[in-house]
Amino acid sequence: MDSKRIVSIIGTGSYVPERVLTNQDLEKIVDTSDEWIFSRTGMRERHIAAPEQAASDLGTEAAKKALEDAGVDAEEIDLLIVATLSPDMFFPSTACFVQEKIGAKNAYCYDLGAACSGFLYALETARAQIACGAVETALVIGSEKMSTFLDWEDRTTCILFGDGAGAAVLRSGGEGRGVMESVMGSDGSLAHLLSTPGGGSRNPMTHEMLDQGMQYLQMQGREVFKHAVKRMTDAVLSALEKNGLSTDEIKCFIPHQANIRIIDAISKKLGVGDRMYVNVEKYANTSSAALAIALDEAVKDGTIQKGDLVVLTVFGGGFTWGANVLEWGK
Ligand code: COA
Repeated sequence: MDSKRIVSIIGTGSYVPERVLTNQDLEKIVDTSDEWIFSRTGMRERHIAAPEQAASDLGTEAAKKALEDAGVDAEEIDLLIVATLSPDMFFPSTACFVQEKIGAKNAYCYDLGAACSGFLYALETARAQIACGAVETALVIGSEKMSTFLDWEDRTTCILFGDGAGAAVLRSGGEGRGVMESVMGSDGSLAHLLSTPGGGSRNPMTHEMLDQGMQYLQMQGREVFKHAVKRMTDAVLSALEKNGLSTDEIKCFIPHQANIRIIDAISKKLGVGDRMYVNVEKYANTSSAALAIALDEAVKDGTIQKGDLVVLTVFGGGFTWGANVLEWGK
């Protein structure tokens, strides 16, 4: 087998729950305003999952669409990865629940934890396994029910996130260069700036822990902002250099959808103008689902066409970050 085969995305799909929570709705929940939220984040609304929907349910909907788009039967999947920070439960993996729901009985399945960077990490993991010949077909999903892990009394965090899922089917072969090698990085020394500290083995599920609200996402927004801009900008430049490309050759840049001001700052640093794909106004930050949803939308609305070069970049808790380039071959 070739040590490095071309790997292509052959189908994408996404799903957001029905319920829409607007900035005006949030005005009734916490002391905030549509004006503050929109001017600081670019967000207008986000989708919130129904009580009975878990991450695997959202991921399953996105996965079904991606499989249909790819024309692939669930039984053809060898590898199924779900990137999530809001799994159905600690174990079994959310990926195993999705496997059961879609009938991917020949796949081996696991979850990947890289917070908001999860989808790109999962894409790279799948790409590498296909490139080396270990598997032929992979289904990669980013799925989040963020609303479960938000403190709906904390206006500095609850306004920023939404629920949703996105998925991609990857396979060996295809025209062009396909998904190229990623540039990835992590810095565990900054883990404390963005985390959900309670509920795990560090701060177990006790009444005291719950009273302190440690089961909810906590963030030092300004610090996160600065690191997000720097890491995504640097990662994009490194990914372009690694593949011998310049920003001018890229049709579309799809960044993590965390905040329009982060995206604008990266766009300015890279000098890429309106080639940045943005949908944060509709969904807010859906963590590991954000990149996957944006990729699916960019394909479906015609922003990305066959032969286009596309850059994906992410940043998230850990800290974690990454970027890659792909040539769209469909
Ligand atoms: N509505 C109204 N006022 C709010 C508010 C809200 N929802 N949230 C915070 N404020 C207030 C603060 O209390 C503060 O008031 P003060 O000056 O009286 O103390 C003021 O607004 C400014 O707060 P600050 O945190 O400095 O605002 P900011 O300009 O840094 O914007 C974020 C805050 C969270 C929008 C911004 O820091 C951010 O986007 N960070 C990155 C977050 C992110 O993307 N995380 C995920 C990465 S994967």
